Amino acid sequence: MGKKFKSVIALIGILIATFPNIACSNNPTTQKDSGIVLGFSQIGSESAWRIGNTNDIEQQAEKYEIGLMLENANQKQENQIAAIRRFIAYKVDVIAFSPIVEEGWDNVLQEAKNAGIPVILVDRDISTEKEGLTACLIGADFYKEGVMAGEYLIRKADSLGLEQVNIVEITGTDNSTPMRQRQAGFADAIAKDERMHILESIDGDFLKSRGAECMRSLIEKYGDDIDVVYSHNDEMTLGALPEIEDAGFTPGKDIIIISIDGGQEAIDVLKNGKINCVVECTPKLGKEVMETAIKLKNGETVEPVIHPEEKVFSDEQDLSNLEPRGY
Ligand code: AHR
Repeated sequence: MGKKFKSVIALIGILIATFPNIACSNNPTTQKDSGIVLGFSQIGSESAWRIGNTNDIEQQAEKYEIGLMLENANQKQENQIAAIRRFIAYKVDVIAFSPIVEEGWDNVLQEAKNAGIPVILVDRDISTEKEGLTACLIGADFYKEGVMAGEYLIRKADSLGLEQVNIVEITGTDNSTPMRQRQAGFADAIAKDERMHILESIDGDFLKSRGAECMRSLIEKYGDDIDVVYSHNDEMTLGALPEIEDAGFTPGKDIIIISIDGGQEAIDVLKNGKINCVVECTPKLGKEVMETAIKLKNGETVEPVIHPEEKVFSDEQDLSNLEPRGY
């Protein structure tokens, strides 16, 4: 076991005692030594997607024998900034993080750059005027996900012969990349279809509880004018469905339900007919993150953007043989 890795293990022990937010992915003393330590700041645990993403990062770090310092920011940007500062102080080899929102990272990323530590953006992007603060982005093409959701809706409206389609949109965390791009992609995809009207877009913060609250207030406001719910993630969709039923509507029939993520629970509800379409967003980004961390540590060039392949699951398909989703 390398000297550097041993000292990191000791450090992780001190960190666990000092900072309760730090969650080490496994017993680091059982890891073999790749000679690389990766500091990863996760947004939180707001969804099955997020928990699946954390699990995947942990499993892949173990597989690639990378020492992982994992911190959960509990949905707070200031916790992510503090975590990145700790990673810099402990001289990790590579930093990775999923930025909760796009703005506000310049100072801390400049500090990482000054310390010579490369940074991988995982899942979400940042917005900055500065160049060279991050090495690359590994995450979904959220704009394409929004487009796929819009294209499904056009096909569905065609198949039902709808002449007017009133949509309510429950969006993810304000100013986050998936919120901005899923909204833009969907709006662009339906823009030329005169049947489509977005009644309201409302911030559900990617949370199940907020999805329920948003749906309740949308039903109070628009009642049976609502033809479609376009929800930016499964969690909010699963929160919205009981509200729709409590109001006397049948989701999947009276109201077309479109979701994003593709976690097992939502896929099961899709198979039962209460969701019409789920656009996949895979949380399994760990393999690419570890391979990129190794390249960066070795001074190799990396792809600036890596998007995983993603599909659409819908009531247009036979889903009986779909493999378990794993999240
Ligand atoms: O950034 C990806 C999004 O964040 C997922 O769609 C959502 O479920 C998660 O919380």
